[in-house]
Amino acid sequence: MERFRVHGGGPLTGEVTVVGAKNSALKLMAAALLAVGRTTLRRVPDILDVAIMAELLRRLGCTVDHDVAAGVVQIDVPERPDHRADYELVRAMRASISVLGPLTARCGIADVAVPGGDAIGSRGLDMHADGLTRLGATVHVDHGYLVAEAPDGLVGAPVSLDFPSVGATENILMAAVLARGTTVIENAAREPEVADLARMLVAMGAEIEGVGSSSLIITGVDRLSPVDHEVVGDRIAAGTWMFAAAVTRGDVVVRGFDPRHLEFVIDKLVGAGVVVDRRPDGVRVTCPRRPRSFDVMTLPFPGFPTDLQPFALVFDALAEGSAMVTENLFEARFHTASELARLGADVRVDGHHALLRGRERLSAAPVVGSDIRAAAALVIAGLAADGVTTVEGVGHVDRGYPSFDATLRSLGADVRRERVEEVPFAPAT
Ligand code: UD1
Repeated sequence: MERFRVHGGGPLTGEVTVVGAKNSALKLMAAALLAVGRTTLRRVPDILDVAIMAELLRRLGCTVDHDVAAGVVQIDVPERPDHRADYELVRAMRASISVLGPLTARCGIADVAVPGGDAIGSRGLDMHADGLTRLGATVHVDHGYLVAEAPDGLVGAPVSLDFPSVGATENILMAAVLARGTTVIENAAREPEVADLARMLVAMGAEIEGVGSSSLIITGVDRLSPVDHEVVGDRIAAGTWMFAAAVTRGDVVVRGFDPRHLEFVIDKLVGAGVVVDRRPDGVRVTCPRRPRSFDVMTLPFPGFPTDLQPFALVFDALAEGSAMVTENLFEARFHTASELARLGADVRVDGHHALLRGRERLSAAPVVGSDIRAAAALVIAGLAADGVTTVEGVGHVDRGYPSFDATLRSLGADVRRERVEEVPFAPAT
């Protein structure tokens, strides 16, 4: 097993350029299934989840080349792809469910294993299934597989989502672009990654109105063509580096993303006394003195992103004053809070609220990160702790961040990976 060894230290300084968003790239790879021929995606992050999605597409009969150095993925889609996504891959990465919509549209049938993925609350698939049902598919679970069948093709229909689910919006959108007639998705997710997907679909020949809004009007077409598309900049990775700069009271320029995609987060940081200088392709974050804490309530875009909530916990654990962090999307996403308590944070969790009283400094300890963002946030907490913090969960971080520890080192942090032998615990009898 590997873990991070983090020496608490001084401020982070320097410059980071983020690449394309994980949460967009994975869906764009799935969307390639909608067109026969070669799709080219640029600015694709070199992360484990992309490798998993590439393997899934290969098993569906596609040829996938990933030029890691260039950040380019090329996907050749055959006339008749396979339609079964195995449990082995789907459980490794929940985003595999995003092949459900495109496969149903292309093949008239999709059987996708019901996913596992990272441990952040129970994540239903009801809206994905209901949406495809509205478009005329029959959907049922069979021996662990979600099976959607539409042998005579999908038919456009109004779909009103109970909640603006990112994954459900994307699956229904990818199914609707090849359905007969018009689909209207109401209460659609507005995340920039959903808009990026819609823009790629439009470039492929899809007819979509309302891109970036909560009402998407899709007129189905017979065929789509493969395209060359650049993935939108990763606002969550950018937010990670912004919090890292603020927490260590550093000075970091973060490039490669659109600051309008983090408006809410930037406003919070500025209100807390962090200096955020907006630029066309990013921000400069400086934090000369201890910031004040702020309340957070996670919400769908344009609200505070749940993926940055663990970083807000770290921020509030170290800022001046008390704060309440409320998690509205994934109920079990407070694992970071209990691990922060191991680092000496004054934090109490009650249901989906965490109450924090800021401390000047944290105190190093061994901690465990339970998902991508939790593990990354704990490494950043370790940078603001006295002594050496070890963080388990390197595998999670590698799923979502290209060169996470190397990037931190380039900003002056003392972070490295170390191997640890797992010694089985044998209690004395
Ligand atoms: C995506 C992101 C994830 C981010 C989340 C919210 C990817 C790969 N992951 O996840 O990083 O945290 O958006 O911004 O893009 N729900 C249902 N039924 C459904 C679908 C969702 O009840 O059919 C619930 C989930 O349990 C959760 C909430 O809706 O409580 C939000 O889920 P959703 O927006 O779908 O997130 P994901 O697409 O899974």
